[in-house]
Amino acid sequence: MSRSNVNYSGIDFKNPVVLASGTCGFGNVLDEIFPIEKLGGISSKGITLKERAGNTGIRIWETSSGLMNSVGLENPSVDGFIDKYLDFINNKDLVNIVNLSGHSVDDYLKGIEKLNHQEVDIVELNISCPNVKEGGMNFGIKTEVARNLVRQVRSICDHKLVIKLSPNAEDIVELAKMCEEEGADGVSLVNTFLAMAIDIRKKKPVFDNVYAGLSGPAIKPIALRMVHQVSKAVDIPVMGMGGISTWEDAIEFLMAGAKVLQIGTATFKNPKIALDIIDGIEKYLEDNNIDSVEDIIGII
Ligand SMILES: Cc1cc2nc3c(=O)[nH]c(=O)nc-3n(C[C@H](O)[C@H](O)[C@H](O)COP(=O)(O)O)c2cc1C
Repeated sequence: MSRSNVNYSGIDFKNPVVLASGTCGFGNVLDEIFPIEKLGGISSKGITLKERAGNTGIRIWETSSGLMNSVGLENPSVDGFIDKYLDFINNKDLVNIVNLSGHSVDDYLKGIEKLNHQEVDIVELNISCPNVKEGGMNFGIKTEVARNLVRQVRSICDHKLVIKLSPNAEDIVELAKMCEEEGADGVSLVNTFLAMAIDIRKKKPVFDNVYAGLSGPAIKPIALRMVHQVSKAVDIPVMGMGGISTWEDAIEFLMAGAKVLQIGTATFKNPKIALDIIDGIEKYLEDNNIDSVEDIIGII
């Protein structure tokens, strides 16, 4: 076992580095650039019961030190994912996290039922997507609305269940505590921050949906603060993300309490960034004579 090995709610990760949902597709394209088995895991693009074409208009917009997206959950549906991509991921030696979204409670439950029959390591329940009109983030703003969904999903979900939280929630700490009370195996945070850009020449919002999700280095200090607050408040393990772009950022998130890290936007600048981060963590542990990455998790 290497120093970087972590146990997340009974699931063994060879290292704590996972590619974040929506930034690595289903791993297949990235596998042409580097062997994705080097990663601790991947979180799939958010899938929904029915196929979605995604949003019209501009979908990606760069800001100073950040990225805004309004992809709108373009995906091949739960069945399409199972048919086309699941075997590919399961044949790789990494943790297979399936990110599931929905437009209604019923949608989520039907998606869970389909996944129950499949080999999946973790279901990451996305109650935090800001880019769809119905459902998505609406389930993740008010704790009691989220509780109703999490309770019903937990009662039928046979897999490990991690709830992906929105930084736009009314109270992210209260939301995480609720997930623990309802029997979730972990929480992951943060999804993107609701944001806006205006094209002053056209005198129109850049995005057809007006608002979009902000990610990348611009959100890192706020995401780090939220990961710290949540990990102090719950005993279930936290997956932390939001602007992680270097191995130093990764160590900060580990020290703040994240057991597993997800890397998103930084992969758009350098598709192999996760490999640098994995090596950087390992070297930091070696240089500081730390036997296990678990020894620095939550030390702050
Ligand atoms: C283009 C894009 C698509 C995304 N799609 C999803 C998604 O389908 N499901 C989800 O839970 N999060 C999605 N996210 C959010 C990321 O998984 C992550 O939570 C967020 O971007 C913060 O991490 P980062 O700053 O490292 O990118 C997406 C982010 C981006 C940039």
